[in-house]
Amino acid sequence: MFRTGADSVSARLRQRLHEAIAAAGGWLPFDRFMAIALYEPGLGYYTRNARQFGALPSSGSDFITAPELSPLFGAALARQLAQALDATGTDELFEFGAGSGALAAQLLDALGARVRRYAIVDLSGTLRARQAERLARFGDRVCWLDAWPARIEGVVVGNEVLDAMPVQLLHFDGTGWQERGVASTGDGFAWQDRPTALRPPHAGPFEPGTVTEIHPQAEAFVRTLAARLARGAAFFVDYGFPEAEYYHPQRSGGTLMCHRGHQADADPLADAGEKDITAHVNFSAVALAGQDAGLQVLGYTSQAHFLLNCGIAELLQDASLAERAAAQKLLAEHEMGELFKVIGFVAGEPFDALGFVHGDRSHRL
Ligand SMILES: C[S@@+](CC[C@H](N)C(=O)[O-])C[C@H]1O[C@@H](n2cnc3c(N)ncnc32)[C@H](O)[C@@H]1O
Repeated sequence: MFRTGADSVSARLRQRLHEAIAAAGGWLPFDRFMAIALYEPGLGYYTRNARQFGALPSSGSDFITAPELSPLFGAALARQLAQALDATGTDELFEFGAGSGALAAQLLDALGARVRRYAIVDLSGTLRARQAERLARFGDRVCWLDAWPARIEGVVVGNEVLDAMPVQLLHFDGTGWQERGVASTGDGFAWQDRPTALRPPHAGPFEPGTVTEIHPQAEAFVRTLAARLARGAAFFVDYGFPEAEYYHPQRSGGTLMCHRGHQADADPLADAGEKDITAHVNFSAVALAGQDAGLQVLGYTSQAHFLLNCGIAELLQDASLAERAAAQKLLAEHEMGELFKVIGFVAGEPFDALGFVHGDRSHRL
């Protein structure tokens, strides 16, 4: 019941990966492998006709995200976005990586006429079709952009989009750093390391055998955003840590992870295209990329703090028992409350952003 024709799509994707490895001289940096596995048109995990997001494996889904878990996520986030629209004098929202369109629906429901236009940018054409179906009731207030707009005036939002951007892998063998890439082995794939001048952005120390990630694409994304955001603010929600925690000696295995059928595994080379591949976000690097390119950090805190600051407790009062149980997962420390963080940026005059009023941790970045 999983996916019609998934086997042949996966076989074509594997073929495409082998071709890319051959074209690159027998060794593909991992970020290129991840980009193809996730986003190769029609074949990648996000670009094939699959159902990634959902609450239970029985739905054929692989993982759940905050807006899929509870509409109160969007309702609370909407309060922050409303304040940001007012503070920056704008009336347009931009969502990057809109998934099934769940968050867009929640935000448009909560913000009503305050949003003149809701623009979605997503790498996946199949997801765009799902979003269009789900958001049809909002008419032509919702639009899709094929590329970055040259100039953005408005408020930008992205939930779990930074973690879906390809990462480079680095391996410390005890004396030096190697870049970890992928080679073909007949039908399959294997890791292969090469000497590199690349380094983690943190001095360490690192245990021999450490494999970790660097995030040039996520940082470039934030720099592009900074260059285009002429007036407005941006909020990103994702799992991750500040740099010192990210590159802590005890995290010697890095954070690369795959998700399928609500199970996690650490082998992105197996079953490429059939599972999600993600890495945690280095929020220090994200903050720095934004600042270096002219944005100011409005705040950085845990998802639990952010949603409570935005008044989710008040919204919960009117919720049913089932809705409350789901929303609690957004807040609980051992679920999404602490691992997930929110970072906010502003282009222009900073304001006291609602979501960071208590528990701002910008100083830890
Ligand atoms: C893990 S899903 C999250 C979806 C949704 N935001 C949610 O919370 O359910 C990642 C999404 O980001 C999109 N994506 C990844 N990189 C992107 C980029 N550079 N620009 C726009 N969308 C991107 C993917 O196509 C996918 O829709």
